[in-house]
Amino acid sequence: MAEKVNKQMYPSAPTNKQPSRDEESATSLSDQELRKKKRIKLGIYIAAFVVFQVLVITAFSLTVMRVKTPKVRLGTVLLQDVKTGNQTSPSFDISFTTQVRIKNTNFGPFKYESTNATFTYQGVTVGQVSIPKGKVGFRSTKKVTVTVTVNSNALPISTTSTTLGSEMGAEVLTLNSHAKLGGKVELMFVTKKKKAAEMNCTMPIDLSTKAVQLNCD
Ligand SMILES: *[C@@H]1O[C@H](CO)[C@@H](O)[C@H](O)[C@H]1NC(C)=O
Ligand SMILES: *[C@@H]1O[C@H](CO)[C@@H](O)[C@H](O)[C@H]1NC(C)=O
Ligand SMILES: *[C@@H]1O[C@H](CO)[C@@H](O)[C@H](O)[C@H]1NC(C)=O
Repeated sequence: MAEKVNKQMYPSAPTNKQPSRDEESATSLSDQELRKKKRIKLGIYIAAFVVFQVLVITAFSLTVMRVKTPKVRLGTVLLQDVKTGNQTSPSFDISFTTQVRIKNTNFGPFKYESTNATFTYQGVTVGQVSIPKGKVGFRSTKKVTVTVTVNSNALPISTTSTTLGSEMGAEVLTLNSHAKLGGKVELMFVTKKKKAAEMNCTMPIDLSTKAVQLNCD
């Protein structure tokens, strides 16, 4: 209605409108360009945001969310009681204390099941100690003090008469220690991943100086 009234009131309106239409179309063109520019800007922002997010997530998954296998090592070995035979009648009966150190470098706790750490001589178990189940906090090391007794009772004659005999002569007894701690690493209270920490150390015991070396891999 209003339009009709306007047209009636201003019959010359169409001719008048002609240039204004051009103006309109000109302004609407620049409006379109503006909108296009805005859209491009928005697109750039979104793309930048997406790239930023991808970088953040990648950095996060490479550091915080990456599940690293915890490490197990033995701490300093303190010999308590050392009884050894000689080269012709080789034997040993040794007790010592040490620490089983479980190092967790994850950003979340590592819960492990109970296990046995075994001590071997030439592949034969000569002693073992149980490690109760437990938990290592995020980015920390748990130390479990253990007392171990190893003796040559279980060794076959073939081993004692050859290898052990010569080691007694050289006064260096080489034992191995092994333990595997199976458990789970928990990240961000949601992700749980199975991980097994394994220890494999050789420990040459110098029988003359009573010094123990530790080589763990
Ligand atoms: C080695 O030990 C055995 C048993 O203790 C002993 O009879 C023997 O004399 C010892 N031999 C040497 C060379 O010391
Ligand atoms: C540890 O060794 C003892 C004695 O040999 C055995 O009864 C026990 O089941 C072992 N524990 C584990 C977790 O292997
Ligand atoms: C432990 O390490 C020794 C050498 O360092 C290797 O010969 C042996 O196979 C390893 N054992 C395990 C169970 O990984």
